[in-house]
Amino acid sequence: MRIFVTGATGWIGAATVDELLTAGHTVVGLARSDRSAAALATKGAQVLHGDLDDLDSLRRGTENADGVVHLANKHDWADPDGTNRTEGAAVRTLVDALAGSNRPLLVANGLTGITPGRATTEDDPSPEIGPDADRGGSENQALAAVDRGVRGMAVRFAPSVHGDGDWGFVSFLAEAARTRGISSWVGDGTAQWSTVHRTDAARLIRLATEQAPAGARLHAAAEIVPTAAIAEALGTALGLPTGSATAEDLGIVGEFFAQTLTADSTRTRDLLGWQPTGPTLLQDILAGSYSGS
Ligand SMILES: NC(=O)c1ccc[n+]([C@@H]2O[C@H](COP(=O)([O-])OP(=O)(O)OC[C@H]3O[C@@H](n4cnc5c(N)ncnc54)[C@H](OP(=O)(O)O)[C@@H]3O)[C@@H](O)[C@H]2O)c1
Repeated sequence: MRIFVTGATGWIGAATVDELLTAGHTVVGLARSDRSAAALATKGAQVLHGDLDDLDSLRRGTENADGVVHLANKHDWADPDGTNRTEGAAVRTLVDALAGSNRPLLVANGLTGITPGRATTEDDPSPEIGPDADRGGSENQALAAVDRGVRGMAVRFAPSVHGDGDWGFVSFLAEAARTRGISSWVGDGTAQWSTVHRTDAARLIRLATEQAPAGARLHAAAEIVPTAAIAEALGTALGLPTGSATAEDLGIVGEFFAQTLTADSTRTRDLLGWQPTGPTLLQDILAGSYSGS
C-alpha cells in the first residue's frame, strides 16, 4: 500500500514509518521542516511538505494514497483549544478527501475522559463530539466517516508509549523527579496506567491499516502498571528517593498521573492477531531509558 502518514517524524510516527517500510509499504510522510523532510528521506520514505494548518497539504497527501495514518498533533500545552481545533479541522479535511473511496483512515486518540475510574474497552464510545471537544472530536469523526465510504478507525494509545528516547509523559515524570530531587506518584499512588512499547504500537498501526474493519476502535495497550511502581522504578533508575506529591507538583503530567488511565485490549488482540512483545515500561526504566538528562 501507499500510505500517507502525518506525524511521521513523531515518537510513534517514526516507529510506524519504520514498521510500514519494513513490511514493504510505500510511505509518504508529512514534513513541516527541512529537518523532518531529511529524516524521512534518509529512511526511504517520500516527503510531502506541509503543515496541519495548511489543509491543502493534507488533501494533497490523500491523492494517490491507498490509506492515511494520522498521528500529527500540535501538543501545544499552552493552547489546548487551538490544538483541539487544529486536530478537528485536520480530520474533517482528511474525511472529506477520502469520502466514497473506502480507503482506510486511522486516527490517534488517548484514553483520557472515556471511562473515568474503570478500564476502557473497545466498545466504550468516546464522549468527545464536535469541533470544540477534546481533540476536536476526531475519533468520532473518523468513525462516523464509515457512513461516507471511508474505512475510518481509531487507535487509542496508552498514556505511556515507552522506549529508549521517549519524550512523552514518562520523560516528563523523570524530568520532574530530577528537578525536585524526588520521584513521586500522586496522592496514594493507587492510580494505574496502561502502557505499551513503541514498537508494539507501531505494529498495531500497521496491522490496523492493512486489515481492521471500518469503524474499529483499537487499543494500543499492553499491560497495566500502578503509578507508584512507575515512580519507584524512576527513583531507582535515577538514584532518587520516592514519595507522594500533588498533581500540581509534577507540572503538566501531574493531572494525568493522578488518574487511572487503563484499557482492555482483548478485542484488539483477537481482531488483529496483535500480541505485544516489547519490553515492559518498568524494564525500560530500569534499563536506563529515562536516565539521561
Ligand atoms: N506518545 C504517547 O505516549 C501517546 C499517548 C496517547 C496518545 N498519543 C497520541 O498519538 C499521536 C502521536 O503521538 P506522538 O507521541 O508520536 O507525538 P509527537 O512525538 O509529539 O509527534 C508529533 C508529530 O506531529 C508533528 N506536528 C506537530 N505539529 C505539526 C504541525 N503544525 N503540522 C504538521 N505536523 C505537526 C510533529 O512534526 P515535527 O517532527 O516536525 O515536530 C511530529 O511528527 C498524537 O495524536 C498523540 O496525542 C500519544
